Order: sequence, then C-alpha cells, then structure tokens
Amino acid sequence: MMILGGRSLQLVYALLILLHMQTSVGFNSTTADYKIRCIESERQVLLTFKRSLVDEYGMLSSWGSEEEKKECCEWDGVQCSNTTGHVTVLILSLLTGNLSPSLFELQHLTYLNLTRNDFNLSHIPESISSLNKLQHLHLQLSNLSGSLPNQLANLTSLQSLDLSHNEFTIKNFEWLSSLSYLQYLDLSGIDLSKVSNYMAEAINKLPHLTILYLYACNLPYVLPQSIPMINTSTSLAILDLSFNNLSASTFQWLSKFHRSLVRLDMSYNSIQGLIPENLGHMTYLEILDLSGNQFGGIPKSSGNLCKLRYLDLYHNNLVEMLPELISNLSGCLQLSLEELILGENKIKGPLPDMIKNFLSLRQLDFYNNQLSGTLPKSIGLLSKLERLQISSNSLNGMITESHFSNLSKLQGLDMSFNPLSFNFSHDWIPPFQLDDIKLVSCKLGPMFPRWLKTQRNFSYLDISGTEISDNIPKWFWNLSSRAYYVNLSSNDLYGVLPNLSATKFADSFGLQIDLSKNKLEGPLPVFPVNVTFINLSKNNFSGSISSLCTITSGNLVFLDASHNQLSGKLPDCMTQWTSLVVLNLANNHLSGKIPSSIGSLSCLESLGLQNNNFSGEIPWALGSCSALQFLDLNYNSFSGIIPTWIGERLSSLTFLLLRSNNFSGDIPLKLCWLTNIMLLDLSNNNLSKNIPWCIHNLTALAQKENSARDHSFPIRIDADPENNGRYADKASVMWKGMERDYGNGNLKNLRIIDLSSNKLTGEIPVQISVLFELVQLNLSRNQLAGRIPSDIGQMRQLESLDLSQNQLSGHLPESMSQLNFLSTLNLSYNNFSGRIPLSTQMQSFNASAFVANPSLCGLPLTPTCPGDEKSKSKSTDNGGKDNQEDRSAFWKSFKPGMELGAAIGFVGVLAVKLDHPWKHFCFLLFNNVRVRFSNLKDCLYLLVAAVGLVTREHVSRLGRKLKLFEPSVSS
Ligand SMILES: *[C@@H]1O[C@H](CO)[C@@H](O)[C@H](O)[C@H]1NC(C)=O
Ligand SMILES: *[C@@H]1O[C@H](CO)[C@@H](O)[C@H](O)[C@H]1NC(C)=O
Ligand SMILES: *[C@@H]1O[C@H](CO)[C@@H](O)[C@H](O)[C@H]1NC(C)=O
Repeated sequence: MMILGGRSLQLVYALLILLHMQTSVGFNSTTADYKIRCIESERQVLLTFKRSLVDEYGMLSSWGSEEEKKECCEWDGVQCSNTTGHVTVLILSLLTGNLSPSLFELQHLTYLNLTRNDFNLSHIPESISSLNKLQHLHLQLSNLSGSLPNQLANLTSLQSLDLSHNEFTIKNFEWLSSLSYLQYLDLSGIDLSKVSNYMAEAINKLPHLTILYLYACNLPYVLPQSIPMINTSTSLAILDLSFNNLSASTFQWLSKFHRSLVRLDMSYNSIQGLIPENLGHMTYLEILDLSGNQFGGIPKSSGNLCKLRYLDLYHNNLVEMLPELISNLSGCLQLSLEELILGENKIKGPLPDMIKNFLSLRQLDFYNNQLSGTLPKSIGLLSKLERLQISSNSLNGMITESHFSNLSKLQGLDMSFNPLSFNFSHDWIPPFQLDDIKLVSCKLGPMFPRWLKTQRNFSYLDISGTEISDNIPKWFWNLSSRAYYVNLSSNDLYGVLPNLSATKFADSFGLQIDLSKNKLEGPLPVFPVNVTFINLSKNNFSGSISSLCTITSGNLVFLDASHNQLSGKLPDCMTQWTSLVVLNLANNHLSGKIPSSIGSLSCLESLGLQNNNFSGEIPWALGSCSALQFLDLNYNSFSGIIPTWIGERLSSLTFLLLRSNNFSGDIPLKLCWLTNIMLLDLSNNNLSKNIPWCIHNLTALAQKENSARDHSFPIRIDADPENNGRYADKASVMWKGMERDYGNGNLKNLRIIDLSSNKLTGEIPVQISVLFELVQLNLSRNQLAGRIPSDIGQMRQLESLDLSQNQLSGHLPESMSQLNFLSTLNLSYNNFSGRIPLSTQMQSFNASAFVANPSLCGLPLTPTCPGDEKSKSKSTDNGGKDNQEDRSAFWKSFKPGMELGAAIGFVGVLAVKLDHPWKHFCFLLFNNVRVRFSNLKDCLYLLVAAVGLVTREHVSRLGRKLKLFEPSVSS
C-alpha cells in the first residue's frame, strides 16, 4: 500500500535495531526473571514521577502497588541492570502532566524513551545533564517546549537523539558538537530557520552521524555554505530534508555526502530547474525522493546510479517526452530500479517499448500526465511489477490478456480516466490477484467483467462509469474478505439486489459501498451490520426503508438513498446510527412523522428529506442533532410552528430550508440566533406577523469572512473528480425566479433569505440593510407595508431583490442606485410612488419589474414623470448596457472548495468515536501546518477510507513521514 515499500524502511529499522543492540541491556523485562532488587532511592524517584502525572490509560498501573512490594525492575517500562540493579531503561508513553526534573536523578539510565506523552509544554530541565551514561534519548511527539538547555552537551554518550515534533526553540547548536558519538538525530518539526547555518556546521562535526531527519524544519531557501569539513570522510547515509523551503543550492552542500548517502529525501521543497548533473556522483544512492518540487528534467548522469532502487519525481514540472526521459535513465540504473514514480507531471508521448528493459521494476507510476497512444504489450513482460498506475492520461486502444501475460505479481492496477477498452476472453483467468482495482471511466461493459470473479483478495474496487449494462452477478457479492470500498456507480446495472447481510469484507474498516446512478430496482437489500458508507441514490429502489434497521454496528457514517421510489415511514431505529453524519432520503415517496429516535444522531451534519410526503411537526428530538448544519425539509407537508428551539439547539445550522410546507405562526425571534445561517428559505408556508427586527443578528449574512463553512463533507468518493471526492449537499434554490440545484461547494457563496409567499405583515425591518453580504432577498407575495429601508443600497452584494405583491409604499430609496450587482429586480404590484432612481442598473430592467405601482414613474416604466421637462428625459437614456456581464455569485462561486478544517472536524468526530487510547496524541503535519487531533494512525486510515480531500498518495507519504507504518515486509 505504501509508495515507499518495505525495503527502504527496513533499512532504517535495521539501523535502529543495530543501535539498540549496542545498548547494554535487552528490552525484554520478562527476561529478568532472576531477581534483581531495585534500588530504593530509584524506586522513590519513579514513584515521585508517577505522582506528577495523570495516567489516563493505566500505563503505570503496575507501578508501586505497596502491598505486592513488586520490584520496580519489573514495573512496565522499567528495566534494571542485571548486575548493579540500577534502572537503566525507561520507556513510557501516553501520560499527561509535567516533565518532572526528579526523573533525571536516575543517573544510570542508558535508554530513555518518552515518546508520545503530553507534557503540557514542559521544558527540558537542566538536570538532564546528570544522565551522562545515556545512549538513547527519544522525546518525539511529547508536547515539550522551550529552548534546549546547553546542558545537553553533557550527554556525551548519546548515540541516538530524537527531539522531533515538539515546540522547542533552538538558539544554538553548541551542545550538538559535543555529542561526538551521535549516529541518529531527528529534529523534524522544529523550526530551524534562524539557526540553519549553525546546524550545518554542527553536523559537519559529527563523524559518526548516519541518520539525520530534518523534515518540516522550515529550513530556508538557501542552506548556508558551512565551513568546509575538517573530517572529509562522512558516514551520513540517510538524510531527510523534506517539507522545507530549500532550493537547488542544497545540492552543493550535499556534495560532501556523495560517497555515503544511501537514501536522500528532498521532497516537498521549492527546488526548480534541472536536477544537477552531479547527481550521478551519488553512486551509493538507493532511494531518491524529489517529489513535490518543480524539477524540469532528469539528467543523463542518473543512468549511472547503479544502486538506485527508488526514484520519486511525483508532482514536479517534467514536460519531456516519455521516450527521451526513459532513455536518460538507461544505464546500469535500468537493472536496479524497482520503483519509478513520475505521477503528476506534464510528460507527453507514448509509453515506449523500452520500458521492458527495466527488469526489476515493481512499481510504475505515470498518474496524471499527458501520455497518449496505446499501451505496449511488452508491459506484460515486467514480471516483477506489483503496481501499475497510469490513470488520468490519454492512453487509448484495446487492453487484452497479453498486456498482463507475465504480471503474476501485480497487486495494484489503476488505469482510470483513459479512453481504454477492455477485451478479455470469456474464461480468462488473470495471472494476478489484485489488491487495488481502479478502472474508473474505462470501457469494461456491456457485460459485467467476469474475470473479477477470480480476484479473491481485493480491498478496493472502483469500476464506476465503465459502461456496464448488466445484472450484478450473484458471485460478485461473495466479496473478498479484505474489501472495504466497492464502487459500481454510474453504470447501467439493473435487477434486484440479493440479501447482502452475509457479504464478507474487511471488518476493521467497515464497508463502503456506492451503487448510485444505476437502474437497480426492487426493495433495498439487507446490508452487512458493519457497513459505514452506503450510496444508493439515483436508482429505482422501491418499498420501505426499514431493512436499513439491520445496520446495528453504530458505524454507519453516510447514507444516501435519495432519488428513488422509496415509500413508507422513517423507521424508529435510528438509535443505532449514532455515527451518522449524512442522511439523505430526498426525492422519494416517504411519509409520516419524523420519529423521535432522530435525536440519537448527535453527529448528524446533513439531513435531506426534501421532496417527500412527510407530515407532522418538527420533533423536539431533532434539537439533539446539535451538529446539524444542513437541514432541508422543502416540499413536504410538515405543519405546526417553526420551533423556537431551533435557534438555541441547532446553532450550527448553515442551511435551513422549509419551503412549501404548511408551517404557520410567526417567525420566532430566536431564529436570529442562527448566526451561521447562509441560506434561510421559509417561503410558501402560512407564516404570519412581522419579520423579526433582530434579523441583523444573522451575522453570516453580514460579514464577509465569517465562520462560513464549505458545506461539503469529506466523504471519499474516488470516482467523482467533479467534487474532489467530497459529498456536497445539494439544495434546490429559487434563483432569479428559476429553481436550480446548487451543490459541490458553490452553495457556500450563496447567501439568501427567501420568505416569499407567506402572510407576513408589518414593515421590512430597517436592520435588514446591514446584511451586507446577502445576495438574494425575496419577500414577495406577503402583506408587507411601509417603505423600503432607505439604506438598502448598503447591501452591495445583492443580485436579486423581489418585493413584489406586497403593500409597500413610498418613494424608492435613492440608495438603490448603488446596487451595482443587481440583475433581477421585481417591485411590481405594490403602492410605490415617485421617480425610479437613476443608475445604469435600475434603468436596465424591464418595465415589468415596476408595473402595478400606480404612482411610480420614470424609466423604464414611463418616459417621464409628471412635471418633467421633455428635454431632460434624454439624459437617462443610457441604461442597460452592461447587463450581459454576469457577475452573479453563482458563477463567482465555482471554485473548487477544499477546506482542511472541515475534513479534520469530520475525522475528529469519527476518531473520538473510535475511543482509542491515543486520543490525545496525534499531530498531523501538513505542509508545516500542524494540526493536532486524535490517534493519527487511525485518523490516517480514516483519511484514506473516508476523506476525498487528501489523496491516498498524501496519506501514505504523511504516514511515512510520521513513521506510523511498520515496515510492510509481507506486501
Ligand atoms: C546481563 O545482561 C546482559 C545483556 O543483556 C547479558 O549479556 C548477560 O548475560 C546478563 N547477565 C546475567 C547474569 O544474566
Ligand atoms: C522476550 O520474552 C518473550 C516471552 O515472554 C520471548 O518469546 C522473547 O524471545 C524474549 N525476547 C528476547 C529478546 O529475549
Ligand atoms: C519508544 O517507545 C514507543 C512506545 O512507547 C515505541 O513505539 C518506539 O518504537 C520507541 N522508540 C524507539 C526508538 O525505540
């Protein structure tokens, strides 16, 4: 699964193991079965340390139980010397509290590992200097801060030092130069931008340094040229400088390490231009990661890297023809190269036949380039190939069995988004067992691909949009027990689904299944208990939805059965769906009341029930769904009042759509508490009395950069590049008199109040004119009286204003002439009087916008007003010239919406649900932005599984950075 496969990590781990072996004490506390008495004073130090901590997860539960008089050498995480009885090893994690200086009285420690604790931004005490026997100090991810004490210089026995991912400030590196035995140093995630020159110098003085991690250290564009090395031989083998701001000049600094570097990671810097020719001198290099830069070419010398196994130039600026590029790589490199990653570049031309000379290739990645032509059959000769990634190119032609003839090791196949047709014989048995199958938008149909029957091992299958027009065969549902994602959407699949409750799949992830946009019919199937994501929308499913009640695991996150023929009531079993974030049952024939079990959905952010026959009142229980942002009940028969508690209990609401129901009573004042609201549609009900005067409290409509959320959810739908793999709420909005569907992120710039077609009385509150960001205001078809607020011209973003069919009167305020974006206006059927204000905009409307106002005059309604001199009317003759220029928010808002915040929030919800003990101990590093949230490994898996925003590529890269993944030797 990881891009950087097992081998390279093995190298790192091998080195780490080597370091461990040099420590004088083994790591197996159980081996100390000969009784070594622990030294009382050290026992007291440990107990004091324990008292200063909160041990939420019982990590120290074996410590100090007085009655047992258990030897402290046998406590968890403690090991003693088998000759002297001194505590020599301490390994503690998941503790909270201050880092008490008393700990450093354990002067015989050789190994101290305090990784993943939460030390509340404690500083490292100066007393650390007493640990002069310490060989290994690991403090990463422990929420420490402050400047590093110079006393670190006394730890002269140190062989490995890991201070990464803490809030340290480093002022100098004098202490580092003294640590002359240091072999392993990790300062990642610490800001070194101000001290990078001292660092470079100090590193030169460490003759044994073998592994150096400096990723995400904010290293500057130019790494200062340090003093020439005194000691010319260097042992630096692994160097990670990724996620910094380094430029090409870094290669000069690196020239010192030409003859020692085995692994070099310079990914995600700002390096431009050609890769320097002297790269060819790094002849020991096995792993080279230059991804995420702006390199424009590969030098010929790279063919001389006879040991290079891994070359990663993902996401650069390569524009060459692929045949040229491959010929630059030919040389002895051809035989060693196992992984070639050139995805996300602008490489052109065909896939050359010579690829077949790279006999060791295990991975080939050309994702998202501009490759064209057909796929050479010789690719089938790469018998070691495990991953083939050629999606998002313009490769065409027919894919046949011979393309896969010798690919018996193939596990990952991604050919999505190429106009490729697959043509296999009916009984083809592929030589491979795939793990990932991604053939989105290729042509596999019209028959359901039979060869899938042989694939018993896949975890991820996406064959959406592949022109299959067939039944889903029964054997298909006999899924691989590793499957967690199955996407068959956007085909012409028909027929009735069988009972799926016995379907096997990967339990640890839950199953995500997308069958949307097909022609499936009959009743909803019974799903497996542990399903997490179900999309059935846009099919012909009918009958009741009560079979969904069998989903009892509490892991269901996403359920979309909209646009079907479903009928009957909402089942009262929602207490089992406590993780549900999105529930969309819109556009069906469902009826009855909303059951009170809806109150169990405390994670629910989006509820779409529009276009059904639901009735009854909005139940009080709905108020417990306090995470709700999107509530669409449009076009139903709901009745009763709009509950006042909505404003208090659903304070996250951003979209409230109650159009075309039977709501009555007044608009409650507490609705003004909805400070996040962006779209408020109460139109076509029986609402009466005044528009609340407090309307100006709807601050999301008044402020430009409010907390406005991009209302889409990071649910992974790989196959849907249109929406960045996110589920976006779609709302149908009356926009300039036409009903339109908004979704995919463009909802977020629509700020609308629609109270039309009710029985509202009184005046338009003058406070409304502070809603500066409002784009559409529709108060038509009510019984409003009085004047238009004179400051209405302040609502500069207004594009559509409809006040027609009321009893409004008086002059039109002069300020209306400032509404420069106004493109739809309707003031007809009122009692307005006087002259229509002059502006390019106002005179551009049709007369119909003003008709049936007996005393209104002026263009465009009448050429003149009573008493005007004829000659003057000419001056107003220039209206309507720039109306074509469509400035509407609708178009402005077509920007891809990607907001990390929303994704993290969502993952946060899920991760808390996981209830994992590492809840507080994970940080996510994103281009130097540090986000702290729940258990990172699970979060990352969730990101893989559930978040479209972050691609799998990102995740595995991040996972690698954070050393979360164990070496995956098996795969
Ligand atoms: C003490 O530990 C060392 C290192 O693990 C080991 O080599 C040695 O045999 C042990 N001595 C005794 C007496 O168990
Ligand atoms: C640690 O102890 C376990 C049994 O408790 C044993 O299987 C393992 O071999 C020991 N490891 C070492 C390094 O002694
Ligand atoms: C430090 O301890 C943690 C768990 O407490 C472990 O995962 C990690 O591998 C240890 N680090 C080293 C370098 O031994």
